[in-house]
Amino acid sequence: MNIIVKKNADEVSKEGANIFIEEINKKPNIVLCLATGSTPQGLYKELIKANKNNEVNFKRVKSFNLDNYIGLEKNDINNYDYYMREKLFNHINIDKENWLVPFVNEENYETYCKEYDQLLEESGIDLLLLGIGENGHIAFNEPSDKFSVGTHIVDLDEKTRKANSRFFDSIEDVPKQAITMGIGSIMKAKKIVLLAIGEKKKEVIKKLLSAEKIDPQFPASILLAHRDVTIITEEALYDKN
Ligand code: F6R
Repeated sequence: MNIIVKKNADEVSKEGANIFIEEINKKPNIVLCLATGSTPQGLYKELIKANKNNEVNFKRVKSFNLDNYIGLEKNDINNYDYYMREKLFNHINIDKENWLVPFVNEENYETYCKEYDQLLEESGIDLLLLGIGENGHIAFNEPSDKFSVGTHIVDLDEKTRKANSRFFDSIEDVPKQAITMGIGSIMKAKKIVLLAIGEKKKEVIKKLLSAEKIDPQFPASILLAHRDVTIITEEALYDKN
């Protein structure tokens, strides 16, 4: 794992965005996989700026998303389809047909997960963006006895619901389930960039950087087995010891 330590959150976002811009410029029909939450928002702002300044072109870029809540309409402000439109896609020159955020309803769980996996498999992911949960989750792959391979429905960890309740009126409003790409699909991405910002991530980053074995109870540890992972974090979170 490659680790880049920057002075502050803004610099982390800029560094992450520069990797994206460089990779898109190298391969204009690149396939991305993107994350939501607080962490990538600065990076998305940088991508919007670069697109407006003609430093990067999204015309041929294709994009998937890691995960989404279940039970929220697409226009609910906490649905990740809405998030992606608001935070990125409405502000760059990506084609509507070229991005997809997973979205399921109770009737189509099984077929949807299979279809999503098939699309991921057919496209292949070149560059994948991750945040990390305080409990070590990546996408919504929560600590568990075993890793999941493909896209699946997950019961959200209470810690995750609590952490994400800041986006909702109350914790009761946080969905109990989500759809998430599996660890298998994440690991197939050619290149992975993980950003960690904010004091709350200090412990989990320390644990990840000192991890010696892969353990499904600490899902991010799987990244030890990937050959192109870059972790970008801020000085305040980085404990050299
Ligand atoms: C979101 C996702 C999650 C978040 C993680 C950190 O699409 O995949 O794994 O990256 O929960 O969230 P923030 O960035 O809000 O701290």
